[in-house]
Amino acid sequence: MCWIFAYNWNKNSIPFLVEGLTNLEYRGYDSAWVFWITKGGKIFLEKAVWKVSNLAGKVELNKNKDKDYNSGIAHTRWATHWGVTEKNTHPHYSSNKRFFVVHNWIIENYAELKKDLIKKWYEFYSETDTEIIAKLIEDLFDWNLIETISKLTQKLVWAYALGIIDTENPDVLIWTKFWSPMILGIDTQACFLSSDINALSQNCKEFFILEDKEIVVLKNWKHKIFSLWKEIFRNSEKITEDFQIATKWDFETFTEKEIYEAPEVLLNCLKWRINFENKTITNETLAELWELDIERIEIIASGSSYFAWVTSSYWFRELAWMPCLVTISSEFLYDTFLPNKKTLYVFISQSGETADVRESVRIVKEKWWITFGLVNVVGSTVARMCDYWLYTHSWIEIWVASTKNIIGQLWVLLLMSLSFGKKRNLQISKIREIIWEIWELNILMKSQLWNTKNIKKLAKKYSKYKNFFFLWRNLLYWTAEECSLKLKELTYLHSECYSTWELKHGPLALVWPDFPCIALNLKWVLKSKTVSNIKEVKARNTTVLWVVTKWDKNEELYDDIIEVPEVSHILAPFIPLIPMWSFAVEIAKELWKDVDKPQNLAKSVTVE
Ligand code: F6R
Repeated sequence: MCWIFAYNWNKNSIPFLVEGLTNLEYRGYDSAWVFWITKGGKIFLEKAVWKVSNLAGKVELNKNKDKDYNSGIAHTRWATHWGVTEKNTHPHYSSNKRFFVVHNWIIENYAELKKDLIKKWYEFYSETDTEIIAKLIEDLFDWNLIETISKLTQKLVWAYALGIIDTENPDVLIWTKFWSPMILGIDTQACFLSSDINALSQNCKEFFILEDKEIVVLKNWKHKIFSLWKEIFRNSEKITEDFQIATKWDFETFTEKEIYEAPEVLLNCLKWRINFENKTITNETLAELWELDIERIEIIASGSSYFAWVTSSYWFRELAWMPCLVTISSEFLYDTFLPNKKTLYVFISQSGETADVRESVRIVKEKWWITFGLVNVVGSTVARMCDYWLYTHSWIEIWVASTKNIIGQLWVLLLMSLSFGKKRNLQISKIREIIWEIWELNILMKSQLWNTKNIKKLAKKYSKYKNFFFLWRNLLYWTAEECSLKLKELTYLHSECYSTWELKHGPLALVWPDFPCIALNLKWVLKSKTVSNIKEVKARNTTVLWVVTKWDKNEELYDDIIEVPEVSHILAPFIPLIPMWSFAVEIAKELWKDVDKPQNLAKSVTVE
């Protein structure tokens, strides 16, 4: 997976390119490069593995950095098939060194293409599929680069966002894409291209989202868009404040800042959708869903987004009496699809770009079934593909681990289940009661943000362990999975998650003093059943960290405790999130891990 930022202007491109890459850093990568070209066609290149700051340092020392460059491309690479080496970083070039190519995503038929090119005596210096594209352009070139690229795209199987520089026309940048996102940002005297709209917002006010196989030509900060060889014209869209790059304020890490924003997400996400004064649901999209003949929900997502759906499946069953099937997107792709006319297919994704979620939408759409997207990034692919969609409006999540956006996802899902519930005769008084509680929960969650002293103390103690069990019952299933995932992701420690009841069916064999159990045990969620299961664990002399409703503790059961506010069982899944995310962050800090950029992970998983 790679992220691209490109620029065409009349000023020195270097500062813009390095800044663009810095703004894309949050998406995850393991090497970076920047390539700039002078008006006379002279090329300069700087590469670095690991950090954009390493690259920025190298660029700073490069004595050519202040030359007269009007174009350039910068790129971060997250290694999928080939090692993290400078040799494998882009751009790759043709044998005659005329064409330089940058590429995002994977060409699946690269081995056959390479074989054909080797037969024609082309030699290869790297292991990448991108080098094959550069050689293919050289092979197909017939003096018209747009036509050459159109022919090239007929030969490539699967996905790409592709940038091409012809060193004989150094003031021109050419781009095309298939399935991989590419956004063209325009300003009065500059053009920018980026894989992510967030990297454009500092310099542009307008943008175009490029469609598959369109070709964009940038020359002297003007752009032309071609489709099937012909130039096309369409209106740009405006960049609104939602796209503004966030700053860290006084927080040590972005992740902490995003956890801090979680209660605010409630207001941003729900203010246009609920009238809190008279406690009614006012959203038009949900009203439109009422018109459809839907009896069943099927939810498709991955990672933390998947866990959010699992929680909502309990709500759909309990509040709307609707069967709700939840499938991991990567499994949905290869499972037998049995379309059901009365099913609403719901896709959830923070980024709206996760490869298997997008593919799943395509499969459902091909069969003409109704699709609904729940995404955070405005204008992202999943939102644009689905028949209906709602945004979580959680503001941009900068770094890898998803936090506040999950809260936004849960809010919308709860709202959906209440709305379907209303249609299916859920009592109005029950809906009003839950809306009132939602409002109160916002205040309770804010109060949780300040309880950091105890969490820090506990993190110090628990950072000495290598393994953890998260225990749950009923509606806390997803919450426990999510907290366990966050602990793994941020600390690289081993963590598993089980229903307390399920322990006896095998996992109890692992429980011993050095394997602490973190038990989520809240009032109104099978509390007494969980208590008896915790007793069984405690009898095996393990350490128990108890996440429990205030005033409800049982001294003999725990070694340590995190107290949380009392809420009804419907809202219980929200309440352990802030303390347990903070717990994971604090352990990660104790262990000197990079909280914002966990090893091996990328923010948006755009390859299968
Ligand atoms: C975990 C995390 C991931 C994402 C997953 C799906 O903290 O961030 O598990 O939830 O990669 O991403 P989206 O929601 O963008 O489809």
